[in-house]
Amino acid sequence: MSPETGTLFTNPDRNLGMELVRATEAAAIRAVPFIGRGDKNAADGAAVDAMRKFLGTVDFDGVVVIGEGEKDHAPMLYNGEHVGSGTGPSCDIAVDPIDGTSLTAAGRQNALSMIAVADRGSMYDPSAVFYMEKIVTGHEGHGVVDLRKPIGENIRALAKAKKKDVADMVVAVLDRPRHAGLIDEIREAGAGTRLMLDGDVAGGINAAMHGTRIDMCVGTGGTPEGIITACALKALGGLIQGRLLPRDDDERQKAIDAGHDLDRVLEVNDLVTSDNTYFVATGVTDGQLVDGVRKSGPGIRTESIVLRGRSGTVRRVVGEHLAEKWL
Ligand code: FBP
Repeated sequence: MSPETGTLFTNPDRNLGMELVRATEAAAIRAVPFIGRGDKNAADGAAVDAMRKFLGTVDFDGVVVIGEGEKDHAPMLYNGEHVGSGTGPSCDIAVDPIDGTSLTAAGRQNALSMIAVADRGSMYDPSAVFYMEKIVTGHEGHGVVDLRKPIGENIRALAKAKKKDVADMVVAVLDRPRHAGLIDEIREAGAGTRLMLDGDVAGGINAAMHGTRIDMCVGTGGTPEGIITACALKALGGLIQGRLLPRDDDERQKAIDAGHDLDRVLEVNDLVTSDNTYFVATGVTDGQLVDGVRKSGPGIRTESIVLRGRSGTVRRVVGEHLAEKWL
């Protein structure tokens, strides 16, 4: 028995995620009128406002270390912004009011509202390097896959560890021109791909969770999303490795000046040093992880997941809300 066994029963404590979930629910609900309306900034703006308001009701002293929106000047919860009531635990918070703003604007699947929280000072500071190469798997990937190895080798090694045929392996990749070679290599190795239009946090979590069809999520995506994924993986015991990939010389220089080794492969504990993490997400549109917001008659239904690193708890939270109070 581990020394930790039973401590959650003998000394139950607060699960901050159960309060934060109201903020992702609110963001998802307020984004609904903008689903499929072609205006991603309006959708993001509505989600940001709702998330900020509801974060203010939660007793914690949060500093936004990962805001969303610098890439395309979307409305944002800006880096350095204090959120929460200001009393309670001091935390880093990463917010993505909508991961999949383009999906939302187009009315496509897999848009999520999400928040990750960890002890203050424990989230990685990528010094504004927007992209990161990543590989995410379930716990079976530890000591088995390596970002530095060719993808075919990683697929074969993970298949062996999972006691699966390579032909049954499914790898999620963002559908981007930059991934054309990677996608070819995955298929040449004998595995199948699931091409994602957007939203590699959900792809990573699906790869790490039991009982999903995704075995691995790979490719270049947002660095903030990598850190958020790491907070979720603390609860799931999965593997993430990432390597910063500057877009241009300016980003490269900034990263070097900030002391980053651009060859370094960052592991889950580099991306978030604390185990006291929370990850909360609510579906905006339907997805593999959770259903999107459903409005029918007087009601609005939300589905969320709440993951806690310290306990390894995975909760699915369904909310039934009164439409007249919200929209
Ligand atoms: P936003 O909707 O928040 O802009 O992010 C969507 C997303 O697909 C992320 O999940 C992913 O990490 C990143 O964008 C990939 O960037 P790009 O769209 O530039 O390839």
